[in-house]
Amino acid sequence: MKKKLFITRKLPAHIVEPLHSYFDVAEWSEEEAVIPREKLLAAVKDCHALWVTLADQVDAELLAHAPNLQIVSTLSVGFNNIDMEAVRSRGIIATNTPDVLTETTADLVFALLLATARRIPEAERYLREGKWQGWYPLQLVGKDVGGATIGIIGLGRIGQAVARRASGFNMKVLYHNRSRKLVEEQQYGFHYKTLEDLLQESDFVVVMAPFSKETEGLIAERQLALMKKDAVLINAARGGIVDEVALYQALKDGKLWAAGLDVFEQEPIALSHPLLTLPNVVVLPHIGSASLQTRTAMMKLNVAALVAYAKGETVLNRVDS
Ligand code: DGY
Repeated sequence: MKKKLFITRKLPAHIVEPLHSYFDVAEWSEEEAVIPREKLLAAVKDCHALWVTLADQVDAELLAHAPNLQIVSTLSVGFNNIDMEAVRSRGIIATNTPDVLTETTADLVFALLLATARRIPEAERYLREGKWQGWYPLQLVGKDVGGATIGIIGLGRIGQAVARRASGFNMKVLYHNRSRKLVEEQQYGFHYKTLEDLLQESDFVVVMAPFSKETEGLIAERQLALMKKDAVLINAARGGIVDEVALYQALKDGKLWAAGLDVFEQEPIALSHPLLTLPNVVVLPHIGSASLQTRTAMMKLNVAALVAYAKGETVLNRVDS
């Protein structure tokens, strides 16, 4: 008898097709819709394998509803949606989708940085709303990116790809990371800094660290106060790393020039959120890896992991060990 697999989103049929040879596949069937939590808890009842997205919490509650679960594969490189302790204690395999999204996500980070520095969304709204009455010297002026100093918090794969792009813009690259990256320092001239020094010296601070107990609330009131008044904060990692209340206050009080955010503490962010009232905030709906090629490559990694598990072969991209 085939093992049971549940997929929490409607995915392209050609991606899911190979799984039918190995699993009895059930999937959430509504296009562009998120499975409600109670339906997810009911769906995992008898499944052995689960394919989730970063928006699905695989926590103790879900595991209690899934006594047969043996593997969970997440369509993301970040795996903070999976309670690792709970998964490990049950001996459940957990996999993610690293590497294939690195360059695409770094492209988006840089696009967000440029859009924030040069006020691109605001300028577009200005034109479409009929406010463009003429050309003025200080109309919609932004901040120079070329030659500025960028400070990257978290020099993992995506952080490094952002840093290489920054070098192409002739930026001075500072970084803060759990461990020194001596090879990258030598090869590309990146400079290691303490978090405090990085915040004080950077024109653009880019948060690229993974979300964990250690990074939760890492950028709060005290850290924001260290930044230059005309600096820009970019967060494309996880919302919980930046304290949104403190960020709102800093932006509102003119203690920070602007912010570009692809991630939020609560996703989707409520339209009534104070950050959305500020003109100097550029917001995106968590689209870091959203190119067709990359999302396809990510899904293929999930499929490969699930198939390897079903065949009893070595499962790649495990994050549970
Ligand atoms: C991930 O996959 O974890 C990233 O958030 C992509 O944007």
